[in-house]
Amino acid sequence: YVIGVDLGTSAVKLLLVNQNGNVTQEVSKSYPLIQEKTGYSEQDPEQWVEQTVAGLSELLQEFEGDAQDIEGISFSGQMHGLVLLDDENQVLRNAILWNDTRTTPQCKEIYEKVGRERFIDITKNMALEGFTLPKILWVKENEPEVFNQARLFLLPKDYLRYRLTGQLHMDYSDAAGTSLLDVSAKQWSKEICDLLDLDISICPDLVNSYDDVGSLLPDIVQETGLAPTTMVFAGGADNACGAVGSGILSPGKTFCSIGTSGVVLSYEETGDKDYEGKVHYFNHGAPDAYYTMGVTLSAGHSLTWFKDVFAEKEDFDTLLSEVSTVPVGSNGLLFTPYLVGERTPHADATIRASFIGMDSSHRRKHFVRAVLEGITFSLNESIDILRKNDKQIDTIYSIGGGAKNKEWLQIQADIFDANIVKLASEQGPGMGAAMLAAFGSGWFDSLQDCANEFLEEAEVYEPIKENVEKYKQLFESYKKVYRDTSEIN
Ligand code: XUL
Repeated sequence: YVIGVDLGTSAVKLLLVNQNGNVTQEVSKSYPLIQEKTGYSEQDPEQWVEQTVAGLSELLQEFEGDAQDIEGISFSGQMHGLVLLDDENQVLRNAILWNDTRTTPQCKEIYEKVGRERFIDITKNMALEGFTLPKILWVKENEPEVFNQARLFLLPKDYLRYRLTGQLHMDYSDAAGTSLLDVSAKQWSKEICDLLDLDISICPDLVNSYDDVGSLLPDIVQETGLAPTTMVFAGGADNACGAVGSGILSPGKTFCSIGTSGVVLSYEETGDKDYEGKVHYFNHGAPDAYYTMGVTLSAGHSLTWFKDVFAEKEDFDTLLSEVSTVPVGSNGLLFTPYLVGERTPHADATIRASFIGMDSSHRRKHFVRAVLEGITFSLNESIDILRKNDKQIDTIYSIGGGAKNKEWLQIQADIFDANIVKLASEQGPGMGAAMLAAFGSGWFDSLQDCANEFLEEAEVYEPIKENVEKYKQLFESYKKVYRDTSEIN
């Protein structure tokens, strides 16, 4: 067996996975967000540790085998969150999370001091509020007494792993989201540190996601019931682990994940292509690989919002079942899902959503279909960027909530103009973490071999030519809505 730990934003999910890739046990433990002011989003790292340890011991209590049969454990983590440690490795303040948006001035400062082009050249990404470097600068400028004691920074799952092993590391896939990593060279950027007056020693040692990084501390062994022989592997960013866990492990492989936010993620063989920062470009969890990624901030969230406001008593299945009777294009109704701003392609925190083209014949079902189409158009903007950079995208693996509805899967096939594949069973980033542990433990020669054994394709949705043509035209109108509404928002 191996264990995959997915340290998310609302909960930690633990999967016990056997040699065939079947999840034999699952435990989830939640923890709160701390939101003291608008735009602030923090968590207490101690809660991650407490809930993970409690989750592990629950998992072990129910486990009928021998603890020694659990060979490895690895981690997937919410990206970008800042954990600052002092010289005794004590946490100095709450972690500032990926969805905290207080750092707009620091993003500006980064471009001023490093130069926008040079910064994107090194980090392969834009300076975004959610990433780690602007959070470090925020603490430096706003809480100098805290910053003066800071000796090292970690990301959420690296801190959790430190508490389980006593070892301090960060893996490349998560380091790529800090804005301090030279992504193609796979090393911390001394240039960026120097220009921003940061001591590079604040950056932890780098490792691969599948590296064995130590063993469990004796008190963790005691508290959880795990065996001291269980090997601990570094793990990766949740998106990198999501890629591993859905088999995005070779050129041409792409997924579309629709949860609260939506992600289009595509495998990249090298770290030196130039997307000018238009999509995220990060190190993969797989050896020497990379991935590009675009984010729609309000994907599933747009649908939940619609249901909460206009169809509170309805369940999702009923709401979505109405959609099949509405024609492609929702009879002229168009939705842009910018409820909380948009990341890709606009990187615009202030834009807001719209319904355009309402007429008196429209019923609730037209609005629901328009919401699904709008979310999918937004994700198509990320696919469009990838294709314009000569990526061939013929097949897309659909995962998350968006893969649960047949109608929506067909909409994805028609808007993306690609075959949409649904996996037989899908466990998200936690499965990717378990696969890193399985590969690290030597069960397979490669992650691809592991994917061949663990993952199974269940259904394929093919694009319908007539719908593809209609959606191509509507996509042009969709893109205009951002341009024409950004001034009045
Ligand atoms: C990625 C990002 C989110 C977090 C969520 O850039 O901000 O996907 O990783 O956990």
